[in-house]
Amino acid sequence: MDYTVMMPAAGSGTRMGAGQNKLFLKLAGKTILGHTLTVFEEDPWCAGIILAVKDSERPVIEAIIRDSAITKVKALPAGGAERQDSVAACLEAHQEGGIVLVHDAARPFIARPVIHKLAESAAEHGAAVAGVKAKDTMKYVTDGQVEETADRERLWIIQTPQAFRYELLLDASRKARQEQFLGTDEATLAERAGLPVHVVGSTYDNIKMTTPEDLAYGGYLLKKRLEETME
Ligand code: CTP
Ligand code: MG
Repeated sequence: MDYTVMMPAAGSGTRMGAGQNKLFLKLAGKTILGHTLTVFEEDPWCAGIILAVKDSERPVIEAIIRDSAITKVKALPAGGAERQDSVAACLEAHQEGGIVLVHDAARPFIARPVIHKLAESAAEHGAAVAGVKAKDTMKYVTDGQVEETADRERLWIIQTPQAFRYELLLDASRKARQEQFLGTDEATLAERAGLPVHVVGSTYDNIKMTTPEDLAYGGYLLKKRLEETME
């Protein structure tokens, strides 16, 4: 089943503290962005990639696309001030409808079976997100005091990819912009519109490269993956 991936890559990587967009940092000799793009380049179900970029970083990103032999990039719209704006720019640049996946460029460890389950689930239900069950106990805390303990059995940590029928997400995205609503993920926009969102079980490996510790763990995950493919 074909899908197109909307990939926001126009962040600053403030929490990584590398003094540059964290997507340009290298893991095992290849940029984080190059790793994430390669996952989709190699997936036969992926029909195209739309990448939101900062105008000032366009030349660097075009070089990464060339060096990583990525052929599926269909458009490089300018990203916006917030991640949601960057995703909106991708959605407006996409012309073909069908199933779209939104995926953070900062998550290079997404597994293909999860991507495929998401595309299928979105085709059937309209919207589907990747998630894993919370391992820790979670509590609501106000002013240093525990207010309530959440029911862990029902708590999921939500990741990307998040998959949608294109028109559905485009409508939700335009509505959010009109109403100046800022969500922390795309599913929130669909939920606001009263649409059901399915959850597809993902892997704990699908981390977002956010702080320096993630680089060390990411290096370990890559090594593990390489050993598995050599076995
Ligand atoms: N992103 C984007 N446009 C923005 C902000 C973020 O396209 N205005 C992208 C990032 O490049 C990243 C993804 O959204 O691939 C997830 O965001 P996050 O992990 O928060 O990355 P940054 O915003 O770059 O990092 P930070 O919040 O630490 O500055
Ligand atoms: Mg951010």
